[in-house]
Amino acid sequence: QKEISQVKVVLLGDSGVGKSSIVLRFVADTFHNNLDPTIGASFLSKAIEVENHSIKFSIWDTAGQERYHSLARMYYADTAAAVLVYDITNRASYEAMKHWRDELAEFGPRNLVIAIAGNKEDLVDKEEVDLIEAKEYADSIGAIFRKTSAKTKYGVDQLFKDIAYRITVG
Ligand code: GTP
Ligand code: MG
Repeated sequence: QKEISQVKVVLLGDSGVGKSSIVLRFVADTFHNNLDPTIGASFLSKAIEVENHSIKFSIWDTAGQERYHSLARMYYADTAAAVLVYDITNRASYEAMKHWRDELAEFGPRNLVIAIAGNKEDLVDKEEVDLIEAKEYADSIGAIFRKTSAKTKYGVDQLFKDIAYRITVG
């Protein structure tokens, strides 16, 4: 007998870090070199199997552009997990990611699973954020940490598996 869980996930982070690209890679296994910025938010879902559980993700991909920031709260209100995304080639996006975490800590739900995705791993030559620093930060807030590339798919499935595992197994 398989247990089925519905898990809401919200993606947060600066515009252009690759939130929509990560979701599209995970859900549809596609990648676009020139994706339009998200307007408001978009919703997608996908189920995966972890241990003896079927996890059905309801994914809210929020818009990172400044003018939409006040909307984000609507999407993380009752979420089980949040993916905080930054672009490893953009230091400012890393700092912004930490602000999103502070915002979640203040206004988000309790006992939320947080995963940090350092995206655009394929551009590691232009890396502006030290990996050790990012991992230490993730540890300090009890978050999952993964480097990802929506372009190559590196780490993307594992990111969602980690979240599913943390929610079901602990
Ligand atoms: P907003 O919707 O405005 O918040 O942006 P977003 O975070 O959803 O970013 P989006 O997924 O639209 O990606 C922005 C640009 O970065 C796109 O042109 C993508 O092709 C590119 N991009 C996303 N992920 C990667 C990646 O892993 N590697 C590389 N090289 N480019 C990426
Ligand atoms: Mg987007």
